[in-house]
Amino acid sequence: MRLRQRSGRLQGKHFLVTAGGTREELDPVRYITNRSSGKMGYAFAQALLEQGASVDLISTVDLPVPVGANVIQVKSAESMLWALQDRFDEATGVVMAAAVADYRPAHIADQKIKKESGAPLILKLVENPDVIASLGKFKQHQYIVAFAAETNDLIAHAQVKLQKKNADMLIANDVSQHDAGFGVDTNRVTILKPGVANEVLALDSKINVAREIVRRMAADLTEGE
Ligand code: CTP
Ligand code: CA
Repeated sequence: MRLRQRSGRLQGKHFLVTAGGTREELDPVRYITNRSSGKMGYAFAQALLEQGASVDLISTVDLPVPVGANVIQVKSAESMLWALQDRFDEATGVVMAAAVADYRPAHIADQKIKKESGAPLILKLVENPDVIASLGKFKQHQYIVAFAAETNDLIAHAQVKLQKKNADMLIANDVSQHDAGFGVDTNRVTILKPGVANEVLALDSKINVAREIVRRMAADLTEGE
């Protein structure tokens, strides 16, 4: 169900927001994933809805749904890409908060893999598509927000990703800190945009960080309207 708000700077605009770590199946009882809680993506969905936008929330996790968000549950990186591709043309923008697994098992076993005592199990992994970079290649009017999760050389790595993903905004996140990034309710980020100075936001709750970023997205998207 999509609820439309009567006010807000993003009224009439539609966003795709991804949230959570992707799950890459190995066999009927096992998968590979990562530490992402999905909280940042859900906070973005909430903040966009507060500004009057409509939101498709493409999620791998089960968190309380922000009122008015249309949730599409996915599991793997590939299924996340397909869900985004189906909706990309109609979207004003994409907020790619999901932690997409970089690799997936090369084969999904039909039956549970049995242990063979005394022998190491060697898994072969293949690279997943870069979801946001694939969309970024074909973007027309879409405003793309990508993230960078780093443990070192935050800004240098984030600068490379801003270009590689063809993003309009890159949210750089130092996940080595105890109060920012994976699992916790607070975040400290730096905003990078092409051609302008970086902006460091103060440590705050994920919802307030999302609100600050959405305010800047709205300013960019409504410039000259
Ligand atoms: N991303 C994606 N598809 C992937 C991997 C990442 O769309 N296969 C997106 C993430 O959702 C995030 C951005 O790309 O918005 C950066 O993700 P990150 O893991 O920080 O960077 P990578 O490009 O995967 O590089 P690396 O993990 O090697 O640092
Ligand atoms: Ca990655």
